[in-house]
Amino acid sequence: MTKIALLGFGTVGQGLCEILKDKATYLKEKYGFDYEIVAVADFAFGNVYNPNGLDVDLMLKEAAAKQKFTKDVVDMDNVQLIKECNADLMCELTYTDLETGGPAIDHCKAALETGKHVVTSNKGPAALMFPELKKLADANGVKLMIEGTVVAGTPIINLTDGPLAGCEISKIRGILNGTTNYMLSEMEKGMAYDDVLKVAQDLGYAEADPTGDVEGFDARGKVTILANIVMDAGIKISDVSCEGITKITLDDIAKAKAENARWKLIGSVEKKDGKVIGSVAPEMVSMTHPLAGVMGATNALTFTTDLMGDVTIVGPGAGKIETGFSILTDILAIHRS
Ligand code: HSE
Repeated sequence: MTKIALLGFGTVGQGLCEILKDKATYLKEKYGFDYEIVAVADFAFGNVYNPNGLDVDLMLKEAAAKQKFTKDVVDMDNVQLIKECNADLMCELTYTDLETGGPAIDHCKAALETGKHVVTSNKGPAALMFPELKKLADANGVKLMIEGTVVAGTPIINLTDGPLAGCEISKIRGILNGTTNYMLSEMEKGMAYDDVLKVAQDLGYAEADPTGDVEGFDARGKVTILANIVMDAGIKISDVSCEGITKITLDDIAKAKAENARWKLIGSVEKKDGKVIGSVAPEMVSMTHPLAGVMGATNALTFTTDLMGDVTIVGPGAGKIETGFSILTDILAIHRS
């Protein structure tokens, strides 16, 4: 029985709970996976703990009604709850802060120090502090898994670490942000920038502060994670040049169409002369290019490798269930190991 603590009960936390609930029988029969959610901390709904399992159905109902949790409420702050609860595994699903990494970094440290595996979709700890946190995980004999930080549940980190292990990757290039790809797709149909951004927020694609998406900061965080984890680049977020889509108008989109092209926000990491260069910028991509056909919140990444040539993966890059799945896949990997 895996006992789970959830830090953050927003879109991803609720998505994960819905999947775990709906697939409980399948997960048990197929993987022998059984679980209990024992602790949840959320700045809006409150902190709750029951060592024998929380009433998740009730919590989902309360969250949907935007009401505070009423059962198993505890007077413990997040770090105290993480340290003192009986979870084997903590999911860090709070909002991303790419400047300080807080409060997620403190949550990860508290879990790892007390011998709990960590699974996260939070880009802050992964982009700002991965080597230090990985060391802490190793020292405590637990895992730190971050598939959900890049392109939701579409396997990227786990692909390079697993099936592509042994291939040297010299370049990674593609669409790394679902919100902006969705916005550019809808703007092509004539929808205004502000309206389409609002829809992307309602669909759960955008970050808590959508500036992170439209200015390219979210994609820049992912480029940094890929550079450091796949290419051991040791670069900082500020080393990655970054331009978002805020300056792209309906006119620009029409002009691109007239030239048989489409705007895409492209993230890229490339090894050049012994250095790793990262960038995020909008590019006009010819309609004949494979990335031109990737629409909506779908993302796509091409890995240029020495043994396999180009390997491309296309899949959802954002969304409640899609990101919830990224957490499930890492939880299952830990369970199976
Ligand atoms: N806001 C992000 C996106 C979510 O739109 O891609 C996934 O990181």
